[in-house]
Amino acid sequence: MTVKLGVNIDHIATLRQARGGNAPDPFAAAEACLALGARYIVLHIRRDRRHVQESDLERLTKKYRPHIHLEMANTKEMVDMALKYKPGSVCFVPEYPNELTTSGGLKLDDKNIALLRSAAARLKKSDIEVSLFINPTANDVRRAKKAGAAIVELCTKDYSEAKTERQRLKLLEDISMSSILAKEIGLSVHSGHGLTTDNVGAVAAVNGMECLNIGFSIIARAVISGLPQAVLEMKQAINAR
Ligand code: PXP
Repeated sequence: MTVKLGVNIDHIATLRQARGGNAPDPFAAAEACLALGARYIVLHIRRDRRHVQESDLERLTKKYRPHIHLEMANTKEMVDMALKYKPGSVCFVPEYPNELTTSGGLKLDDKNIALLRSAAARLKKSDIEVSLFINPTANDVRRAKKAGAAIVELCTKDYSEAKTERQRLKLLEDISMSSILAKEIGLSVHSGHGLTTDNVGAVAAVNGMECLNIGFSIIARAVISGLPQAVLEMKQAINAR
């Protein structure tokens, strides 16, 4: 089975916000990614709106609804926004002020399960698929099911940051076991966070893995690999005077 790719375009928006204009345009980036075979465009609208804006979601869902995968905190504001624009799927993630990036999977205690369950029910009624970003443990896979998820996104942050090969293999095993259990209980399995061309292969090979959501390493690479063209175009513009 081929593993699908979701490209997270948050950091195209980070660059745009640095100058407050329209470039680089996350919509153009999304179109390029889809044209190259990405199955999903992933975007995280944060409470502080540090990168992706509501207007990005509006433009993207108008044209590419089934491909749009919105990451968000479980707040009334965000659930209302999802119901307004109806992306194909939503992934609930934990969100804390001032964090550099999502810090790990959701905390799935009884109270949070109840809150997620009621938000998931509202989204499902609008034909929005619900994913939960969870740590790769058997308990959390079972709790995600209880919370009404159709998809679990297994967090690969610890795997990606493993300091030793032994640690990395142990964390890969956790992802593998969680994937098997998730499939057994009828959940789709996605994964992501911190994946690069160097560490993605083993996760893509996990039994049952359907989709990998990857952002930072793709955008960081694109900035460097796109430089020769950008410099060439500027030199040509200078010399065309
Ligand atoms: N999946 C989730 C739930 C995330 O929060 C993030 C980071 O925004 C990613 C995947 C992508 O992580 P990265 O940008 O490190 O590839």
